Amino acid sequence: MANMITTRSLGTASEGIKDQYADGKAAKVWEIFIGDKKSRTENYKNFLVGLLKRKGCKRVLDVACGTGIDSIMLLEEGFEVVSVDASDKMLKYALKSRWNRRKEAAFDNWIIEEANWLTLYDDIKDLVGNGFDAVICLGNSFAHMLDNFGDQREQKQAIRNFEKCVKPGGLLLIDHRNYDYIIDSGSTASKCIYYNSKHTTDIKTSVLFVEGRPALVTLDYLIDTASLDDEKSNIIINEDSISEFRLSYYPHRLKIFNMMLKNAFGQNSNYKIYGDFKNLEEIRTPNFYIHLVEKSSPYSNK
Ligand SMILES: C[S@@+](CC[C@H](N)C(=O)[O-])C[C@H]1O[C@@H](n2cnc3c(N)ncnc32)[C@H](O)[C@@H]1O
Repeated sequence: MANMITTRSLGTASEGIKDQYADGKAAKVWEIFIGDKKSRTENYKNFLVGLLKRKGCKRVLDVACGTGIDSIMLLEEGFEVVSVDASDKMLKYALKSRWNRRKEAAFDNWIIEEANWLTLYDDIKDLVGNGFDAVICLGNSFAHMLDNFGDQREQKQAIRNFEKCVKPGGLLLIDHRNYDYIIDSGSTASKCIYYNSKHTTDIKTSVLFVEGRPALVTLDYLIDTASLDDEKSNIIINEDSISEFRLSYYPHRLKIFNMMLKNAFGQNSNYKIYGDFKNLEEIRTPNFYIHLVEKSSPYSNK
């Protein structure tokens, strides 16, 4: 059963959760949560790699690379990847993977930078050039950006920055959990459509309402770390302290999110929404929505 909290302002509760991975604890647990980096769910891999190949994408910007899981999959599939993230604690794991595999040309050429979506374009202008073939922001990452001013201005600014990094005719792929369902039902499905982790999780859900509007969802992830003993893992964990971690999210409503994308990319771009990698008609209550935007170009015919 979910917690429902009602307040008149986000107040001090929103302070101090900008880099929610800053203490390094969640980064360690995230590595456990996502499981073996080579083992992605087939649905996800087929969807992402298939789509990027079909659209002729070669150069990809992963704007929420975290510990590098999506980026590594794309490098292994022959894409040229630039990866950024605001959390040095998360990037530490990506940098380590790059170092360990530096003898492979793709990994030797892998560019990893620290950058914040609010200043993304300026942070990496030199790397953007004429724009990336695709920008990806996946794994429910975007919802980490909260609404500190009550008008979603920072989220809009971040999306404008993503748009500036996509070349005309290129793609943005961005996802979020099905917050419409989470708000209405008060619960979150623990099944993850991206990772193949063996460590079972349960997710406790709390929804904070500000002046009657859902403004913050807090998810407490419970991870069964018992089976870690059997694995060759170089993650040092203290089972008592990190079998549980908490992350907070802005609960994006599907329609409003779609509108934010349209405002940033314009009416001439193409928009499609997938539910758990399927066409929306094929799935009743998806866990995740994945938005695909194809940025208009002077040559695109609509
Ligand atoms: C849930 S993790 C997902 C990482 C990876 N895509 C995955 O699926 O495992 C979300 C990532 O978004 C990053 N992030 C959150 N807010 C950010 C911001 N404003 N700018 C850049 N990165 C941010 C966090 O540091 C974190 O590594």
